[in-house]
Amino acid sequence: MHTLLFILGTRPEAIKLSPLALHFRNFKSDFDVKVCLTGQHREIVHQSLDVFGLTPDIDLDLMLPGQTLFQSTSRILSALEAVFASVKPDLVFVQGDTTTTFCGALAAFYAGVPIAHVEAGLRTWDLLRPFPEEANRQMVGRLTTMHLAATPWAAENLKREGIAETSITVTGNTGIDALLLTLKTLPAHHWEFLHPDRKLILVTGHRRENFGEGFERFCRALLRLSMRPDVQLVYPVHPNPKVRGPVEAILGGCSNIHLIAPQDYLPFVDLMRRSYLIITDSGGVQEEGPSLGKPILVSREVTERPEAVDAGTVRLVGTDEDKIVREAEVLLDNSEEYARRSTIHNPYGDGQASPRIEQAVRAYFAAL
Ligand code: UD1
Ligand code: UDP
Repeated sequence: MHTLLFILGTRPEAIKLSPLALHFRNFKSDFDVKVCLTGQHREIVHQSLDVFGLTPDIDLDLMLPGQTLFQSTSRILSALEAVFASVKPDLVFVQGDTTTTFCGALAAFYAGVPIAHVEAGLRTWDLLRPFPEEANRQMVGRLTTMHLAATPWAAENLKREGIAETSITVTGNTGIDALLLTLKTLPAHHWEFLHPDRKLILVTGHRRENFGEGFERFCRALLRLSMRPDVQLVYPVHPNPKVRGPVEAILGGCSNIHLIAPQDYLPFVDLMRRSYLIITDSGGVQEEGPSLGKPILVSREVTERPEAVDAGTVRLVGTDEDKIVREAEVLLDNSEEYARRSTIHNPYGDGQASPRIEQAVRAYFAAL
């Protein structure tokens, strides 16, 4: 029997680790699965966990409103010491690139516990974009024992950094496991405010490097797009005060932009499915869009997920107001271009990442 400790703290970690933790829980005689929630996020992590029915064993409940990176990092790292002392895991799972991911990996390293990093090897090689996520990924990569790369490109990045090939497995992304599973039974959600004849532009945005002027330009572009009579914008607003502030100030009075609360995962997938076009700086949404055949404009200068850019579904537009409007108008007005960029493809996974990770973990323990 091996004890696996899953450490997660934010919405994307809850969505991407739930299918995996639940998969391991199917093998009760082989694995004792413990889930520790750092509480880096509060409401939006619970609304994701509830959808999958994953109950945490430990909830550190550490979120502070408007927390700084210093606060979240120090609080999470300190609190994890006692978790390791009581759970005594044989392997720790962390996912992605958040503060929780970095602290979870560092705590495991200090406690002498091997680390399995889910979604390893994403890189922009620009430490400031995304900030601080690129640094978190690179630091976690130095500490990790099992590098679980979603795509061959991510695996190549790790090899180029000198990571032994034997410690890397290409698995697909567990977020695509979650999405494909969800789509099988997803009921149509009723959206009272949606107009049946207008194209839906779905928007999300929360990257730290866009805070301030970048975010204001992004909002002004949305305002200009909302003037078109053939579109409607829906924007579930991230609860970070640095996001909510400018969004509500610039877009609050606009009747054609529906600012709504962060959505549970199922209605959010329904919104993605109904959308004509998605404008986002999210990592996860960049992976989900291509699987749904939705063109995506990414409001960032660089991306660690180039596969869908190469395939044409995703285009980088930064936070240049004119460029966002121009690129959206191309998709709205040119049906041939829209058709070319809205083909369904899954560069990020085939829905089988969890069983592949299970096999890699079994092989790891068998070789000890
Ligand atoms: C974090 C991650 C980012 C990830 C994003 C996913 C870091 C440094 N950043 O950014 O990589 O893409 O989550 O959404 O780890 N808040 C609430 N309720 C919640 C969640 C957040 O009120 O359920 C508010 C709080 O005021 C909190 C603030 O948002 O202090 C910021 O949360 P934090 O986790 O520090 O950063 P995010 O911007 O959410
Ligand atoms: N998501 C959600 N509700 C929302 C917005 C996003 O469930 O209102 C999901 C989305 O489908 C994706 C994940 O949250 O799976 C992405 O999280 P986020 O954009 O917060 O973080 P990132 O992926 O950028 O780290």
